[in-house]
Amino acid sequence: MMTASERLIALLKLKKGAAAAIHDPSNMFYLTEGYTGEGMVFISPERRIIVTDFRYTEQAEHQAPGFEIVMTENAKPEKAVLAELVAAGGIGELYLETNYLSVDRFREFRGTLGSEVSLLSLDKAPQKLREVKTPAEVAAIRKACGITSDAFRAILEKIRPGMTEKELQIELDFTMLRLGAEGNAFSTIIASGENGSLPHAIPGSRVLQKGDMITMDFGAKVDGYCSDMTRTVALGKPSEEMKRVYDTVLEAQLKCVDALAAGKNCFEIDRLARDLIDSRGYAGRFGHGLGHAVGIDIHEEPRLSPRCREDLRAGVVMTVEPGIYLPGVGGVRIEDTCLVREGDGVPLTTADKQLIIL
Ligand code: GLY
Ligand code: MN
Repeated sequence: MMTASERLIALLKLKKGAAAAIHDPSNMFYLTEGYTGEGMVFISPERRIIVTDFRYTEQAEHQAPGFEIVMTENAKPEKAVLAELVAAGGIGELYLETNYLSVDRFREFRGTLGSEVSLLSLDKAPQKLREVKTPAEVAAIRKACGITSDAFRAILEKIRPGMTEKELQIELDFTMLRLGAEGNAFSTIIASGENGSLPHAIPGSRVLQKGDMITMDFGAKVDGYCSDMTRTVALGKPSEEMKRVYDTVLEAQLKCVDALAAGKNCFEIDRLARDLIDSRGYAGRFGHGLGHAVGIDIHEEPRLSPRCREDLRAGVVMTVEPGIYLPGVGGVRIEDTCLVREGDGVPLTTADKQLIIL
């Protein structure tokens, strides 16, 4: 199997005299297969180099044994090292992340390298490679999903009227760390009662009460890879209205997970959920996309959204997360991280989805 840097060279058809300089930390991690520090990754057909400062040089040797390490110094900053590498390799074409570098940084490189070097856009080539996960990447995501699902089961024992959203967040984050997460995939969302209408609510001082629906959206990071799961539970018997909202979201979620398979169009799967939710009288109350890919970053391409015309491929890992949000009343979202395969899609997050009444 090719290494990630070899996959980039093949995708860009890099020949002698051409190179790529990578700065996005997620792309650096992917292309080096493990480096988590700062700096720049330089890839040409002849050389694989991590350019960084003293803080990360030893770490880089451990995390990316296949790469040369070049240390920057005050007298020789990154742009000077890059100019040397370009001169030494006879590089005439240098690919950069035009979606990531600031205009200032780009101008700096332009000024240092001179006009005889063509600066080209990488056009998110590393992100395109990252869409289809390798078996090792799927294994890491599966592990993160397992921790997330186990944390949900454990937290059900702890949810009580009288605790705040913030206290619940702390318990959930602590539980994931205790179960082996290296960190959170993103800031945990807890939305209780009427706060449930805020898709990305920040857990606060609201006290959980009987009759609340509580939405918990959280994920773990394992070996550099994320999981993403949302469950909404009821604390005491929910209102008929919220029960109907829950049933509708669950029906949409199950239908869309069932529809996942390689070759399906992202936009069509999103439409399945949107049409169902709209037809039940909640038009306009599901205002975000149905899902997104998950990997090193919590939000990757492709998206299950009305705008995405991409076909799913086997090995893509997608969330399926329909929701209904009613301002002043509450909301429900149910989300799984799923692996797309040739004939189907399989949830990697495995916590129960039937309505749990605590
Ligand atoms: N889990 C947060 C999000 O997908 O936006
Ligand atoms: Mn998500």
